[in-house]
Amino acid sequence: MVESISFNIQPGGFLRGTIRVPGDKSMSHRSIMLGSLAEGTTHVTGFLNAEDALATLQAFRTMGVKIEGPENGEVTIYGVGKHGLKEPKEPLSLGNSGTSMRLLSGLLAGQSFNTELTGDHSLSSRPMKRVTDPLASMGAYIEMQEGGTAPLKIKGNPHLKAINYMMPMASAQVKSCLLLAGMYAEGETSVSEPAPTRDHTERMLNGFSYPVHREGNKASITADGKLTATDIDVPSDISSAAFFLVGASIAPNSDVTLKHVGINPTRTGIIEILRLMGANIEIQNERSVGGEPVADIRVTSSQLKGIDIPEHTVPLAIDEFPVLFVAAACAEGVTRLTGAKELRVKESDRIQVMADGLQELGVDAQPTEDGMVIQGKPKDSIGGGIVNSHGDHRIAMSFSIAGLKATAQITIKDCENVNTSFPEFRDLATKLGLNVT
Ligand code: S3P
Repeated sequence: MVESISFNIQPGGFLRGTIRVPGDKSMSHRSIMLGSLAEGTTHVTGFLNAEDALATLQAFRTMGVKIEGPENGEVTIYGVGKHGLKEPKEPLSLGNSGTSMRLLSGLLAGQSFNTELTGDHSLSSRPMKRVTDPLASMGAYIEMQEGGTAPLKIKGNPHLKAINYMMPMASAQVKSCLLLAGMYAEGETSVSEPAPTRDHTERMLNGFSYPVHREGNKASITADGKLTATDIDVPSDISSAAFFLVGASIAPNSDVTLKHVGINPTRTGIIEILRLMGANIEIQNERSVGGEPVADIRVTSSQLKGIDIPEHTVPLAIDEFPVLFVAAACAEGVTRLTGAKELRVKESDRIQVMADGLQELGVDAQPTEDGMVIQGKPKDSIGGGIVNSHGDHRIAMSFSIAGLKATAQITIKDCENVNTSFPEFRDLATKLGLNVT
């Protein structure tokens, strides 16, 4: 039993200073997966040393891949080649990590051995049919629970057949799952997306010299290719930087610089939305690192205003809405989010859990089926109280940031899962000026 951790946030204050937040979670997962399947040795720097990425790392060790680290963000992967994984002797236990489970189900469907994927309570209640249905039409054999949830028992089928799939939702996990399965299928596998989603899988495959063809909203792959080991520098995670982008925007007298942040255009919805709300955000030293755009981001305080969040930004900011709801609570006027029902199937139901917590703190936040309507207030925006994060890392960190504009202490329960994506959150937030114990 993991000990339950609560955060206590003293109200008010501001954020000032320069920090580097930990490595990108999506890219860290993919670096282990592709590095393991590559021929040769892959060196990763900036790797996210947090539970989710470590779950992927451990899964590949269990499948016979020698991996050293992480030590100071450095990982060395001795690739075994596309067909070099070994049957694991035990189920692969993936903790809280949806990315591990959905991407691995595609990668493992076409192997010549069987696997079982398990997860924690939250992961075991998240929808998996979105990956198992299209995989089944490629010929995969995957058994799951009646509600379409994990554990997943995968009977490897080395004779998968390619499909041409139009995703019913904008999901990078589903897209990536099918592209990884396509590396083992006969014919050309194509995945089309209803709106752009993060493209780290496609970019990193190219970085490993594996051909992925991109045309409009469609990405295609075949089994004719091999991965050649490469070095990967993982930039800081914009989804972790997001807490400070919002914190420094809402707290007066703030001035924060976030170093070496990944600003891939499929991830920068948070910047677009905050700028529409009137935030002062400067992108500095833009550069390209291993095929991914990176920059330093400076943010200073501003009086935000409520907006109707453009729907095209939803997949580009999908993990940032919990903290954007906090920004909306502090903005002048109404903020409306629509077209975001995917938020209901994240690590928690992020629409309901955020609405409940914000209401507890006296904010006028009304959940809708696919979004939220928040009546913001520039002064005395948020009261004190006790909120429950429901074990969702991003909810815990979002309510911590709310403390900057609160009139009394906020206690947040069930915060241990902050370790899944951002174990240094408390230390870095404290360094910038948040009073969290
Ligand atoms: C991720 C994709 C997104 C995101 C998740 C990471 C990825 O999920 O919410 O945190 O690394 O591909 P969906 O594909 O379900 O939107």
